[in-house]
Amino acid sequence: MWTFSYILLALVIWQDNVALCSSIVTLSLYAKEYRRPVVAYSCVSCEPVRSSVKNTLEIDQNGSDVSYYVDIQLGSDVNSVYSVVVDTGSYDLWVYSQSCTNISCVSHNQFGPQDSATLEVYDGKDFSIDYGQGKVSGIVATDYVELAGYNVSMGFGLAEDVADSFNAFPVDGILGLSASDLQINGNPSVIAVLARDGLISREVFAIDLGTEDDLDGGSMSIGGVDTSRFTGDISFVDVANDQGLWIVAIDDCYVNGEAEGFSDKLALIDTGTTLILIPSDDALQIHKDLVGSNGIVRTDGTNYVIACNTTTELAFGFGGVRWAVNSSDYIGNPLDGDGNCLTNIQGVSVNGTSTWLMGASFLKGIYTIYDKQNMRVGFASRGTGGNDIYDDGHPTGSLSAEITPTFHSLSASTNSFAAISMSTISAGE
Ligand SMILES: *[C@@H]1O[C@H](CO)[C@@H](O)[C@H](O)[C@H]1NC(C)=O
Ligand SMILES: *[C@@H]1O[C@H](CO)[C@@H](O)[C@H](O)[C@H]1NC(C)=O
Ligand SMILES: *[C@@H]1O[C@H](CO)[C@@H](O)[C@H](O)[C@H]1NC(C)=O
Ligand SMILES: *[C@@H]1O[C@H](CO)[C@@H](O)[C@H](O)[C@H]1NC(C)=O
Ligand SMILES: *[C@@H]1O[C@H](CO)[C@@H](O)[C@H](O)[C@H]1NC(C)=O
Ligand SMILES: *[C@@H]1O[C@H](CO)[C@@H](O)[C@H](O)[C@H]1NC(C)=O
Repeated sequence: MWTFSYILLALVIWQDNVALCSSIVTLSLYAKEYRRPVVAYSCVSCEPVRSSVKNTLEIDQNGSDVSYYVDIQLGSDVNSVYSVVVDTGSYDLWVYSQSCTNISCVSHNQFGPQDSATLEVYDGKDFSIDYGQGKVSGIVATDYVELAGYNVSMGFGLAEDVADSFNAFPVDGILGLSASDLQINGNPSVIAVLARDGLISREVFAIDLGTEDDLDGGSMSIGGVDTSRFTGDISFVDVANDQGLWIVAIDDCYVNGEAEGFSDKLALIDTGTTLILIPSDDALQIHKDLVGSNGIVRTDGTNYVIACNTTTELAFGFGGVRWAVNSSDYIGNPLDGDGNCLTNIQGVSVNGTSTWLMGASFLKGIYTIYDKQNMRVGFASRGTGGNDIYDDGHPTGSLSAEITPTFHSLSASTNSFAAISMSTISAGE
């Protein structure tokens, strides 16, 4: 049997029709007795060294580099803390609703009128999102959201019906950080709200996920970059299409410095998915070259098992610059003491043969910048003393025009993706 491992797939794969009714119902005008969130997650670096840079959020995880989250506060109760996945691969902010009885909800922190005197829900306005992980649906609400020192009133989802597959992850919801101004639930995204309210002058954020071995944890900065988290210059690549996601052209993949010869591939830059997911033919080719004459130990076309001590150089190219993936990041969980390991690169198609999903296994080794204003993604080496091109001392000019995103499917059908996620977590042999 192959080892069971949790893999978070927080990318949007479909959207149902969103009702656009908007009568506001205030659920509770009177705050009930203060309720502390019931679940406290163990974390790797619970008190990370705080960056000296303002507008910075600590990114944490509970070990194993599976899911990365930040803490936000919701509502009028200043001690109501919710851990949400940092997810550049989806659009919406949602948390588990207090009225949800599904296992995924009740085993995590839930939010509702008991937690906030300022919560408003929109009567009859629903949201429904399919993630690679499973489906989430619920109602749309408005309340105060505090993150990185900002406290804004905005719309988000209260999840009422959540797939059991979310239960495994130590989070209370998802913070979608797509390149779109709008969430699927119809409200402006958190970055758009911060810009609209004049709290940030640039629609830019940057992420250093970090690994479980990093003592100071990960970090996200909002409104600019954090020069204490990267070194050298930022290399930018323009967003390749108008889908409202961080999708860029990928030059190629390099094994031991040799180009693999892939062309016309796009990469979805997705901090919310644990692994690197690429179409099966491409995954097979890369693994063959990674192991050389040692051979692939076994594969079912999705999962790959190779020698744990493989140290072949692997890199991905963006905008003419190659970004290496440490072998400790592409080698995954060991199997039963036989010196063989699963890899963190799976043969999975998220959008036909054209798109590679670059998840945390790749992103944790680098610093990434999400520049909505210029619709580009920046890549930089982790380190300190980076060159902050955003700190030019000049006025920032007008913010980007609001775009109307076309929400889309990233997989042929929900069914085919469900089959894939099953083999992801329970590949038996
Ligand atoms: C992380 O969370 C999972 C699921 O809740 C749990 O099984 C695992 O023990 C946690 N890991 C650590 C290191 O706390
Ligand atoms: C955010 O502002 C609201 C309205 O003033 C307030 O009720 C709430 O406590 C604030 N949240 C935090 C975390 O300060
Ligand atoms: C969640 O709970 C609702 C209400 O009880 C139920 O209808 C739905 O089937 C549940 N969803 C899952 C995934 O169990
Ligand atoms: C690769 O990862 C290992 C283990 O985390 C670390 O010791 C090593 O320094 C890393 N190599 C590079 C080039 O970053
Ligand atoms: C990897 O481990 C195998 C035994 O599992 C050993 O035969 C081989 O020499 C090792 N390779 C390297 C590069 O250390
Ligand atoms: C998916 O692939 C199709 C065809 O290659 C392309 O037109 C579409 O933009 C892609 N979707 C995304 C989200 O990149």
